[in-house]
Amino acid sequence: MRKVFVILVVVKLCLVLILHPNNAAQLKFTNARCRVHNASWVKLKLCRLKALSRNRTVFNFNATMLYPAYQISMEAQLLKKANGYKPWLYNASADICRFLKKPFNPVIILFVKAIRDYTNFNHTCPFDGPLIASGLHMPYEKLGIPFPTGEYLVKLDWFYHHRKQLSTDFYFSVDEGILNTTGSIIKG
Ligand SMILES: *[C@@H]1O[C@H](CO)[C@@H](O)[C@H](O)[C@H]1NC(C)=O
Ligand SMILES: *[C@@H]1O[C@H](CO)[C@@H](O)[C@H](O)[C@H]1NC(C)=O
Ligand SMILES: *[C@@H]1O[C@H](CO)[C@@H](O)[C@H](O)[C@H]1NC(C)=O
Ligand SMILES: *[C@@H]1O[C@H](CO)[C@@H](O)[C@H](O)[C@H]1NC(C)=O
Ligand SMILES: *[C@@H]1O[C@H](CO)[C@@H](O)[C@H](O)[C@H]1NC(C)=O
Ligand SMILES: *[C@@H]1O[C@H](CO)[C@@H](O)[C@H](O)[C@H]1NC(C)=O
Repeated sequence: MRKVFVILVVVKLCLVLILHPNNAAQLKFTNARCRVHNASWVKLKLCRLKALSRNRTVFNFNATMLYPAYQISMEAQLLKKANGYKPWLYNASADICRFLKKPFNPVIILFVKAIRDYTNFNHTCPFDGPLIASGLHMPYEKLGIPFPTGEYLVKLDWFYHHRKQLSTDFYFSVDEGILNTTGSIIKG
């Protein structure tokens, strides 16, 4: 994990130098899918994208945890489309309860800060009752790592008490807009 993170930071710095992300870059959710693996623990009511404009979609989610979860972990897999979705850049996993008590992974901290205001996933464990996301979106600038233009899929598997209970898959597109790679390198 530590090694992956060091590599990630290096990759990130390289990408920042090369790509120089600008404000024209956009991220848009294109699809969202949720699967419950244990219906006796999680009751899913809503998992849907809503289009607000041509370039903006938001994610709404409503589920109920029927039992309290004292241990929650998440596994994330990032894929990029190229003749189907292929693993891209990195996988990550996190002990969510530990993280919520004392945030430690800088990439996840950025991510959580960006979505915190749109969810009720903002307290420490245990989690019980409603799990809500409302109007959730992810501005490109808040991603933490620059993404080249393309279609992506992030698969999140949620484990309560070490058993997979819920999967949430987000498809999104990134459009870097009027990115001028050559110019950025020269200007340094
Ligand atoms: C589903 O959740 C219930 C409630 O916590 C638990 O008793 C059961 O073992 C779980 N089943 C699986 C397959 O994880
Ligand atoms: C997104 O679309 C709206 C109109 O639907 C436009 O006003 C806005 O500038 C667009 N945002 C970007 C970053 O292009
Ligand atoms: C979630 O769904 C339940 C049952 O359909 C509903 O009572 C509740 O108001 C919903 N919560 C939100 C925030 O939409
Ligand atoms: C991430 O994990 C999946 C399956 O667990 C594996 O197929 C894939 O190669 C991994 N990707 C990376 C970038 O390590
Ligand atoms: C968590 O979110 C809920 C609903 O958005 C809000 O009422 C509550 O004040 C938040 N709690 C914290 C600790 O931020
Ligand atoms: C990219 O930037 C360089 C230097 O700033 C400029 O000369 C060139 O015309 C730009 N190219 C495009 C496609 O905007």
